[in-house]
Amino acid sequence: MTDDSSPAARLRHELADELLAQGRIVSPAVDKAFRTVPREMFVPAGTPLDVVYSVDSPVITKTDEHGAHISSVSATYIQARMIEMAALAPGMAVLEIGSGGYNAALLAEVVGSDGHVVSVDIDAEITKRANDLLDVAGYGGRVTVVQADAQHPLPGFEPFDRILVTVGAWDVLPAWLDQLTAGGILVVPLRLNGVTRTIAFRRRGNHLVSVDVELAGFVPMRGEGAHTERTFLLPDRHGKHIKLQFDTEIPEPITGLDSVLATGPVSVWSGVTIPNGVSFADLHLWFAAFLPGFCRVGADPATDLASQLGRTWFPFGVVRDDAFAYLAVRPALNGGGVEFGATAYGSHGQAAGTALTEQVQAWDLHGRSSEPAFEFWPTGSRPVPPPGRSAVLTKQHGAVSISWPEAD
Ligand SMILES: C[S@@+](CC[C@H](N)C(=O)[O-])C[C@H]1O[C@@H](n2cnc3c(N)ncnc32)[C@H](O)[C@@H]1O
Repeated sequence: MTDDSSPAARLRHELADELLAQGRIVSPAVDKAFRTVPREMFVPAGTPLDVVYSVDSPVITKTDEHGAHISSVSATYIQARMIEMAALAPGMAVLEIGSGGYNAALLAEVVGSDGHVVSVDIDAEITKRANDLLDVAGYGGRVTVVQADAQHPLPGFEPFDRILVTVGAWDVLPAWLDQLTAGGILVVPLRLNGVTRTIAFRRRGNHLVSVDVELAGFVPMRGEGAHTERTFLLPDRHGKHIKLQFDTEIPEPITGLDSVLATGPVSVWSGVTIPNGVSFADLHLWFAAFLPGFCRVGADPATDLASQLGRTWFPFGVVRDDAFAYLAVRPALNGGGVEFGATAYGSHGQAAGTALTEQVQAWDLHGRSSEPAFEFWPTGSRPVPPPGRSAVLTKQHGAVSISWPEAD
């Protein structure tokens, strides 16, 4: 298909080597696919080859009128992981939700000539582009590209063995369950109270059970399944704003917060530490599951908060009645690493800070040493989460349980 001594081919093999070394590729079929499909044919002309073949750079292919990214060829590390998570086998029928061309070609390589790939995108410009590029790259007969909102089932196709959702979803749609075979696997980046996890779910009877999980963000779903977070702007003394983003509802009465930044801050420390360089992404998920009033926090660049922290986005916060607190860290007293705490505002700031640090302590005791499991229970079924510490998040079309097994 391409000259094997070309710079692109050399980088393609180097990329596959790196994904293998990182454990993102584990199976020979996926390795072969990454060494075969010419990714440079699926990105906009002029994209530098080192970007095309990087592990972690998506290549943006479309932005909206506000500059927000609405389509991309995803980063190779997450494409590799999602294909591995799907546990594909030759001859399978696969549905890809969100098109670009490249990922569909990788899928076609893995399922082979007896398999079939259908790729659906809501955007006619994207499907035309994907279709044309797949034709030119020689995959036209192996991938069917359809323009439709993936909110609805695709007419004319048998159920799929695997469904890979390559766009950020807030819910597991009935159409996806309807189109998934018994025992089939759905891989989906799912938003869970503001925190996204890409989850491979296997269908078990009337519900889905997670079999693998990865950390990754995606452009959000458009169309009927689009989800809008609720934003509350907290004014500071300069008239600039701190932005509190809630998953579905703004806690009432939040207007009690209007002058909250005038009181405080107070610090509350948890005694829980973490070494430098160790991810605490699971703490965010724990908050999303168990901390009422949980929100994401951002700030105008000119706010005191932004200048204090040297950045405009910082992890997570909580609103409790007329008080607000955000997750803070300080150097750990006994050597390397940091201690988690809360910086809190308002006359009841201490209570909001304590609510947050109590969940840090609960995570330390019951969450940090185990991996959470996820289940999806469609509307009409009753969620029965596995034993352990569980939260059930209500969705429009069912419920997601997140469970941390009890430590021995
Ligand atoms: C990250 S891109 C897909 C990348 C592609 N799978 C690849 O890596 O080559 C996400 C795509 O999802 C599409 N999308 C958003 N909402 C959708 C919906 N409701 N139904 C189908 N496609 C949707 C967007 O138009 C966008 O092209």
